[in-house]
Amino acid sequence: MTRFTVNDRPVQYRMDPETPLLWALRDASNLTGTKYGCGTGDCGACTVDIDGEAVRSCQVTIGKTEGRFVTTIEALSPDRGHPLQQAFAAENVSQCGYCMSGIIMAASVLLRRTNDPTDAEIDAAITNICRCGVYPRLRGAIKRAGRIMRDEDQAGDGPIQAAPPPGITPDEAVRAVPALRKP
Ligand code: FES
Ligand code: FES
Repeated sequence: MTRFTVNDRPVQYRMDPETPLLWALRDASNLTGTKYGCGTGDCGACTVDIDGEAVRSCQVTIGKTEGRFVTTIEALSPDRGHPLQQAFAAENVSQCGYCMSGIIMAASVLLRRTNDPTDAEIDAAITNICRCGVYPRLRGAIKRAGRIMRDEDQAGDGPIQAAPPPGITPDEAVRAVPALRKP
């Protein structure tokens, strides 16, 4: 039995202590916002926050996570209102979105340390791989999130648009995926 805290809730996993944290989160806790990309620690898609550090969850076992505090993308904000989520939506950063939760988790750790990061600090903190190549928009969105945190996002950039509400209605789902339409 391995015990630690995930998204402010105590959890106990009856799994092999050598199980990578990524698979406990995804398969046992159904926290599928954390993604599997490479499994070798290179891509960063699986990044979560452990005790305030950005950690690649494919590279740490649940045994090594005992007693620690894990935060995943699902708990970054209850209403998608975290400045990073707002800025990434406003700047249209995402393409396929697969890498986004890992990048946002790494960026959230950076912005907790400094809400006015330099280009070099952003480059050092965000080593995640994006197959869609959204890199040119990343720095700008992270800096914008910093400005939101500093209450400086008024002049020039315009107001931040609200992120779409959580969830999707059946009608919206049918519009997005016509195959769901009932005959
Ligand atoms: S899946 Fe963990 S770094 Fe790629
Ligand atoms: S947005 Fe597609 S992998 Fe980054």
